[in-house]
Amino acid sequence: MNRGEFIAHATIIGAGAAVFKDKMILAGTKKQSPKARLAFIGLGMRGSGLLKEAVSQGHSEIVAISDINEIAINNAKQIIKDTGSGSPDYYLKENDFETIVTRDDVDAVIIATPWEWHLPMSLASLKAGKHTGCEVIAGLTVPEIWELVNLQEKTKTPYMMMENVCYRRDVMAVLNMARKNLFGNITYMECGYQHDLREVLFNDGQHMTGHGVEFGEKGINEARWRTPHYVSHNGDMYPTHGAGPLSNILNITRGNQFAQLVSMATPAIGLHQYIVENGGNSHPNTKVKFKCGDVVTTLIKCVNGEVIKMTFDTSSPRPYSLGFRVQGSEGIWTEDAKGIYLQKHSPRAHEYEPAAKYFSEHDHPYWKKYGDKAESSGHGGMDYFIIREFVDCVINRKPFLMDVYDAAMWSVLRPLSEKSIAKGSQPVLIPDFTRGKWKRRKPVFGMQNDFSL
Ligand SMILES: NC(=O)c1ccc[n+]([C@@H]2O[C@H](COP(=O)([O-])OP(=O)(O)OC[C@H]3O[C@@H](n4cnc5c(N)ncnc54)[C@H](O)[C@@H]3O)[C@@H](O)[C@H]2O)c1
Repeated sequence: MNRGEFIAHATIIGAGAAVFKDKMILAGTKKQSPKARLAFIGLGMRGSGLLKEAVSQGHSEIVAISDINEIAINNAKQIIKDTGSGSPDYYLKENDFETIVTRDDVDAVIIATPWEWHLPMSLASLKAGKHTGCEVIAGLTVPEIWELVNLQEKTKTPYMMMENVCYRRDVMAVLNMARKNLFGNITYMECGYQHDLREVLFNDGQHMTGHGVEFGEKGINEARWRTPHYVSHNGDMYPTHGAGPLSNILNITRGNQFAQLVSMATPAIGLHQYIVENGGNSHPNTKVKFKCGDVVTTLIKCVNGEVIKMTFDTSSPRPYSLGFRVQGSEGIWTEDAKGIYLQKHSPRAHEYEPAAKYFSEHDHPYWKKYGDKAESSGHGGMDYFIIREFVDCVINRKPFLMDVYDAAMWSVLRPLSEKSIAKGSQPVLIPDFTRGKWKRRKPVFGMQNDFSL
C-alpha cells in the first residue's frame, strides 16, 4: 500500500469506526463509553480466566457464552453473577458457535476451546464478520493455517492470536532494549515451552489436576483433549509462547521471516513413567504408547540469518521456564540466569548483572501505567493486557497487533517440527504466509504508549 492508498484506507477505517462506536453505544448500555459486545466460546481453565478479565476491566458487555460442559457453564454463570455483568445467553451444544457468530449483537468472539476447534470456530467467526480472538495455536496443519489466512484475506475481518506471553513484563522490557539496540545485532535466541504438565495431562475425571492417570474420554479439561495429541503426534506442540515474543523482537512478518527449521525428539519416557508411578503397573494406560518425545528441540533459521533454538518439554520433572535467551553482538539476556550482560554497560567483564535492574529502567509504558492493576490478574498480568488490547482494538477499530500472519507463522512451527522429525530430522522450508508482504510490513507490537480506551 502506498502513502496515498494508506491515507484513503485510514479514512475509510476512521469513518467506519465512528459508525461502529455509535452502534455499540446504542446497542450497548446507557454508559457514555462504548463497550465491545463479546461472545465467549470455551469456558474451561483458560476461557473462564479471560472472561473474568473482560468483566473486571469494564469495557465489555458479555452477550453469549458457550461450552459443552455444564460445569464450565455454571462456573461462567457464577462469574457473571458475582460481578453483576448482565445476563448473557448461554449455549451448551457443540455447534452452537455457528449460531452465536451470526448474532447481530455480537461484535467480537473469543475462542478458548481445545486445539481441534480453533480452526472451524475461527473460520465461522471470520465468515460472519466478527472480530476474532483465538487462543494459541491457530491451526494444527499447514493446509488448515493456509485456510485461515486465505479466509481472513478474503473477508478482511480482523483476527488476533491471543498470545499473552508477548505482554510479559520482562519480555516487553527486553523488546524495548532490543529496539534501543542495547544488544547490538541480534544473532541468536532461545525460547521454549518448558512446563511440567504431567498433573494436567492426567487426572481422575473429577479433579482438574493432581489426581489420577486417566486421559481422553475418562479425563476432564486438558487431560481430555490435550493428552491424546501426545499419543498421535511427535513434535513441538506448543510453539507460540516462545516464538511469539521472540518474533516481535526479530520483526518476523515485518521485515524478517522464518525460513526453515529442523527438529529432533528424544525418547518418550516421562508420561509412561508417570502412569506407572501414580496408577500402578497394572493400570490399563501403562499399555499406551506415547509418540511425542519428552524433549523436542527445534532450530529455526530466519531470512535475515538469525537462529532460534526452541525447546518443548512438558513431560519431564522440571521447574517452569520459557527459557528465553537473546544474544546479540553487544550482549545477552538469559532468563534462567536472571541475568543481563552488556559489554559497554556491565561493570565486570564476563559477569551477568541482575536483569531486574534493566527491566525497571526499560519497563514498557503499558506496564509503567497499568502494572499495579495488571499484576493482580491472570498469568502475572499478561492476561490483563491481552484482553485490554483486544477490546481496545475492537471498540476503536484499530488493527490487531498480532494478526493472522503472525498467528500463521508462529503456529506453523508445530506441524513443520512434526514433519522434520518424521523425515528423520531433515530441514523443512517454512512457507511465507504473508506472500511477500513481510518485506513491507512495519513492526507494530509494543510501539504504543497507551490504550485508546
Ligand atoms: N495463553 C495461555 O496462557 C493459555 C493457558 C491455558 C490454555 N490455553 C489455551 O486455551 C485453550 C483452552 O485450554 P483450557 O486449558 O481452557 O482447556 P479446558 O479443557 O480447561 O477448556 C476447554 C473448554 O472448551 C470446551 N469445549 C470443547 N468443545 C467445545 C465446543 N464445541 N463448543 C464450546 N465449548 C467447547 C470444553 O468443554 C472446555 O470447558 C487451548 O487452546 C489452550 O492451548 C492458553
